[in-house]
Amino acid sequence: MSGTSISDRAVPGLLTKADLSGGLSFEEVRLLLALTDPEDVRALLETADRVRARVVGDEVHLRGLVEFSNYCRKNCAYCGLRRDNSHVERYRLSADEIISIAGDLDQRGIRTVVLQSGEDLSYSAEALADIIRRIKQSTSLAVTLSVGERPRVHYEMWKQAGADRYLLRHETVNRELFDAMECGTSFENRMRCIRDLRELDYQVGIGFMVGLPGQTLDDLAGDLMFVKEMQPDMLGIGPFIPASETPLAGRPGGSLEQTLKCVALGRILTRDTLIPATTALATIDEFGYELGLRAGANVVMPNWTPLDCREQYAIYPNKRCLREDPDIWLCTLKERIAAMGRAVSAGRGHSPKKAALSAD
Ligand code: 5AD
Ligand code: SF4
Repeated sequence: MSGTSISDRAVPGLLTKADLSGGLSFEEVRLLLALTDPEDVRALLETADRVRARVVGDEVHLRGLVEFSNYCRKNCAYCGLRRDNSHVERYRLSADEIISIAGDLDQRGIRTVVLQSGEDLSYSAEALADIIRRIKQSTSLAVTLSVGERPRVHYEMWKQAGADRYLLRHETVNRELFDAMECGTSFENRMRCIRDLRELDYQVGIGFMVGLPGQTLDDLAGDLMFVKEMQPDMLGIGPFIPASETPLAGRPGGSLEQTLKCVALGRILTRDTLIPATTALATIDEFGYELGLRAGANVVMPNWTPLDCREQYAIYPNKRCLREDPDIWLCTLKERIAAMGRAVSAGRGHSPKKAALSAD
């Protein structure tokens, strides 16, 4: 991705527009993505930080991430958990284990549990609905699901059981790139799922990776324009990190700077969307959480997967906090957030885009 020169006069004008309205065009987004001068990049990230502070304030929302199964029927070229990777030791947590972890989170004041897995059909729609129901009965947690593409009736059942949110990244709006990733699904079905989830009134998160092999600046600008059009409740953006035993092993990963620019533009284009400083960002840089939180992010997702399974949930290598004791890590995280002058939210951190819910 080569830098595009942009006149000194154009950058401040664009940033003022970004600050005040966020109504940037494809070309303008592309120009901002192409900035390479460190001062320009810094000004872009600071603009996003200002928009974040003004629109959603200084609170950081914590989500406890429980990776409850690493079995997957899909075969995404970028992912270490892909079906064909026989080097992964697979595990599944039982319903009782998942519910007990949710109880731990509730006790610690982390008010959202994110139930994430590979696409593992051995958890039937009914079984997952039962888990959701039991969590909702025994805790005050918001429940976020991240279990991939399923039929609409499954999403419907889980919503009725009490699920609040759903994360399903769109990955890329470039269909050719989407197909080249050989996930075993179509762009159309991914869009169908996202549409279904929105119609069913979930708070829906989309997102994409930065630096996928073959991805261009135009692709990233396209993803950001899609985000602008969709105005999702949540938006996850992280760098691509090459994983061994995958077709993309050994390829270059996404850069820190380009990821931060995308996070910043995500904030600028959506204003009040919940945006995490992703684990992938924290994996490629020791201060990834801080850098993300200063570039427009307002969510962090501490890992609450049992320590003996974490290593096996290897979407990519060297994931941040593979071995940290969760309680010690939570303390450290809170200290790091406080040191930035930010506050950990005590609420459930619902989407500000859902006006009826946003008070809590
Ligand atoms: N590097 C970074 N992110 C990845 N994901 C999958 N594989 C990788 C990787 N190698 C992201 C995808 C997926 C989410 C769960 O993790 O965007 O949607
Ligand atoms: Fe499975 Fe998700 Fe990995 Fe694709 S990204 S192989 S769907 S776990």
